[in-house]
Amino acid sequence: MEREAYKMERKEALYEGKAKIIYATDRPDEYLVYYKDDATAGNGAKRGTIADKGIMNNKMTAFFFDLLAKEGIPHHYISMPSDREMIVKKLTIIPLEVIIRNVAAGSLAQRLGLEEGVPMPFPVIEYCYKNDDLGDPMLNRYHIRAMKIATDAELDEIEHMSLKINDVLTKFLKTKRVDLIDFKLEFGKDVDGNIILADEISPDNCRFWDSDTKEKLDKDRFRRDLGNVEDAYKEMLHRLTGEA
Ligand code: TMP
Repeated sequence: MEREAYKMERKEALYEGKAKIIYATDRPDEYLVYYKDDATAGNGAKRGTIADKGIMNNKMTAFFFDLLAKEGIPHHYISMPSDREMIVKKLTIIPLEVIIRNVAAGSLAQRLGLEEGVPMPFPVIEYCYKNDDLGDPMLNRYHIRAMKIATDAELDEIEHMSLKINDVLTKFLKTKRVDLIDFKLEFGKDVDGNIILADEISPDNCRFWDSDTKEKLDKDRFRRDLGNVEDAYKEMLHRLTGEA
C-alpha cells in the first residue's frame, strides 16, 4: 500500500522526555515522535514553555535530516504526518550524548576557563552518559568501553559520522549566515547493528550564532533568560526553510 494512502495509527506512549513523547504505532518497526513546547534547562531545574517550539523543532529536524541524507548520513526520520509529529525508525538508542564543539561556549568554556566565542583549533568531541538519575555525567572512551555502552569500533563510527555531520551542517549554515558553535547528537542501532543518527537537530540541542552580530539563535536565550526566545527559533526556521 502507498504510504500516503495509509493512515498511521498512534498507539500507547512508550516514553515521555523533557521535550518529546515517543509513541508506539501499528507498525512494529516504526515509532511516532511528538514534539512538545516544554523547555527545561539545568537537568530540569528550570522549566517553561516556548510557544510553538514543538512545531518549529519538528520542521527544523526534518530539514536537517533531509540535508544529511543527501550527504549519505543514515538517520531515523521517515515522514512528518503533522506539524508536531515525526515517524521514525525503531532503533535501540545508545545511551550517549555526543557533543561536538567548534567554538568554546557553555559548559566547556566554564570547565576550562575559556572565553565564550574562542574557536577550537579542531572539532572537540565529548561524551555524556544519558542517565537522568545521575545527571548525564561526562564519560571518556575508557568509561564507555568499561560500561559496555559501545565497542571501540562503534565509537569510531560514531565519531566519523559526527565529524561528517559537523562538516555538512557547518558549511550549510554558513550560507545562511549562522555559525554552528556546538551541538549534541544521539545515535541508535537498527536490527542489523547499523549505527543510525537519531533524536533531533534543532535550537534545543545546538548553539547557533548569527555570523555577523553573534546574536544567539538557540535555547541559550531560554537557559540564560535573554528574552526573545520564540523569535530566535522562528528566525532559525526562516533562515533554513524560508518559512515565515
Ligand atoms: P553544554 O555547553 O551545556 O555542555 O552543551 C553543549 C551543546 O550540547 C549545546 O549545544 C547544548 C547541547 N546539549 C544538549 O542538547 N543536551 C544536553 O543534555 C547537554 C549537556 C548539551
